[in-house]
Amino acid sequence: MQLLRTLSGYEVEYLPNIAFRLMSVVLSMRDALAPVGKRLDRFGIRKGCVVVDFGCGPGSYIERASQLVGDAGKVYAVDVHPLAIMSVKRRAEQKNFSNVVPVLSAGYPVNIASQSADVIYALDMFHHVKDTDGFLTELHRVLKPNGALFIESGHQPLDGARKKILNSDCWVIVKEEKNLFECASKEHGSA
Ligand SMILES: C[S@@+](CC[C@H](N)C(=O)[O-])C[C@H]1O[C@@H](n2cnc3c(N)ncnc32)[C@H](O)[C@@H]1O
Repeated sequence: MQLLRTLSGYEVEYLPNIAFRLMSVVLSMRDALAPVGKRLDRFGIRKGCVVVDFGCGPGSYIERASQLVGDAGKVYAVDVHPLAIMSVKRRAEQKNFSNVVPVLSAGYPVNIASQSADVIYALDMFHHVKDTDGFLTELHRVLKPNGALFIESGHQPLDGARKKILNSDCWVIVKEEKNLFECASKEHGSA
């Protein structure tokens, strides 16, 4: 892992460039074998929605997300890795996705307004996150009170991921399917 100390003094941890490039190759092979974008079709994303792809990596999901939200919507693609942001920018420019906004995260808060997102998804990335409470609190700040969060356990035991989500005290799990948790804000979900 590589550490970057930002101007605000916050330390951001991310993969060395070579590891990120290798990961991108693996993800592109995965996408060639079985495109992942269709997974988003079950997240209730509609035209005009604001969605956040947290831990977007090289951007495997942005094409489908961009199509689903349409011209009136917006897709924030957030990552801590500068190479991820470069890749998303390149993809968005090549395909003319004017509704995709790449956001480099250098700690929290990220540059997205509070309570602005209808749907947040964080896929194959939760195992990377060190400050899980900070992360889950930030997702809670960004999501609309009645919005939906989809978070995959990633490469960690399901029980551990579930505990982290519940211990953060922001979320209730409304549905669990394989390694995917659908969550709602605690205030809203238990109302
Ligand atoms: C395995 S990739 C998954 C990419 C994409 N979600 C997918 O499933 O194709 C994990 C990504 O999460 C990013 N990441 C790790 N910790 C993060 C954090 N705290 N905030 C935002 N992105 C993070 C990494 O830089 C990496 O690009």
